[in-house]
Amino acid sequence: MNILLLGSGGREHALAWKLNQSVWTNPLYIAPGNAGTSQCGINVDLDITDFDAIGKFCEEKKIEMLVVGPEEPLVKGLCDYFKSKPSLEKIFFIGPSKEGAQLEGSKAFAKAFMKKHNIPTAGYKEFTVDNYEEGVAFLKQHELPIVLKADGLAGGKGVVICQNHVEAIAEFELMIQQAKFGDASKKVVVEEFLDGIEVSVFVLTDGKNYIILPEAKDYKRIEEGDKGANTGGMGAVSPVPFATPSFMSKIEEQIIKPTINGLHKDKIDYKGFVFIGVIKVNDEPYVIEYNCRLGDPETEVIIPRLENDLVGLFVSTCNQELDTVKIKVDERIAITIVAVSFGYPLAYEKGHTITGLNIKHSKDSLVFHSGTKEENGKIITNGGRVLCVTSFSETVYEAVEKSRDVLEQIDYDGIYYRRDIGYEFL
Ligand code: AMP
Ligand code: GLY
Repeated sequence: MNILLLGSGGREHALAWKLNQSVWTNPLYIAPGNAGTSQCGINVDLDITDFDAIGKFCEEKKIEMLVVGPEEPLVKGLCDYFKSKPSLEKIFFIGPSKEGAQLEGSKAFAKAFMKKHNIPTAGYKEFTVDNYEEGVAFLKQHELPIVLKADGLAGGKGVVICQNHVEAIAEFELMIQQAKFGDASKKVVVEEFLDGIEVSVFVLTDGKNYIILPEAKDYKRIEEGDKGANTGGMGAVSPVPFATPSFMSKIEEQIIKPTINGLHKDKIDYKGFVFIGVIKVNDEPYVIEYNCRLGDPETEVIIPRLENDLVGLFVSTCNQELDTVKIKVDERIAITIVAVSFGYPLAYEKGHTITGLNIKHSKDSLVFHSGTKEENGKIITNGGRVLCVTSFSETVYEAVEKSRDVLEQIDYDGIYYRRDIGYEFL
């Protein structure tokens, strides 16, 4: 089967690595990919938001399956574009329609969806320039802290947690009046703060049936001990010890089932991943956010744990046969540690040569590339998050040790990584 995967991060390297193991895959193209994905298939220089160019490539190469890694093309309607073209509509498309992708693309849409389908989430109100004064009055009497969310996509920066009213009103003004996040913050969701522990839950749905993939916990802060600036993610662990079978069954009954049934009832075309950010408050699950894709770096631990053939799962998804699928998971613990560039998550350096990538390590460790590229036969840094090292073991401690051993062999100017991934589960 001719397969095209869109994206260029660690998530896509992990997906490419897994797709490449399937007997169905031949060949695998990745657009635009990175220096890691080129070890699993053929990188193609395509802009992931240039729908015409992607369509043309799919026609030329007779692509039979398209897997979309990141949210942007989905939120912009790539699935609808494919479904509208006779030459492309039969391609197995993994990723929701534009309307389905609104679960991630619009916080207000997601909140209204959850309210309609009785899915537990924080209480909220939404505001625009039209009811701005009402919003200010609402903020003044709101309990602290206050969570402000830009409605649209804001590169992961659109959520601000304010510790006092002055800060909340200033941020609200910045978002709505000063267009801090452009059009994305024309509408703002003001939400109750939920105090608890978070877990990333992943579901693959065919729009009617679903399977639950392994869950994960992501470490977002740059510094050890979960301090410092927010990042795209500095590491992950799967499984998550507090996601016990009884808590996961609450998530399934109270969140996953009503979400999938809600999509079905609302006639929203959704064949792809739903990533649900769940928070556990007093042993009850609440949805913090939905994403219409897999997480990064969570993918780098959940995909290696998955034992099913991924292409087979995707075919079952497109044929609406996920009810016939049984998921098989490696019971060992997987952790991943992300190595970043100097300066990240602020301005960072690029173009440094990476050494040590070819050193042989145990089969329990995997190196996934994020921001890397090949230049003159060398692999150089090309992003804030550069690579991540996933390791399997029976304990978190041993898995972290294994990844750290591999990372000690790898070097580039300004390399930094957290050594404490999974620390609270030791
Ligand atoms: P998001 O961009 O939606 O992933 O939100 C970023 C982070 O903000 C989440 O991972 C949570 O840690 C935090 N957050 C979002 N909404 C809330 C909330 N209602 N209460 C507490 N924390 C929140
Ligand atoms: N690791 C969180 C995300 O991918 O959004």
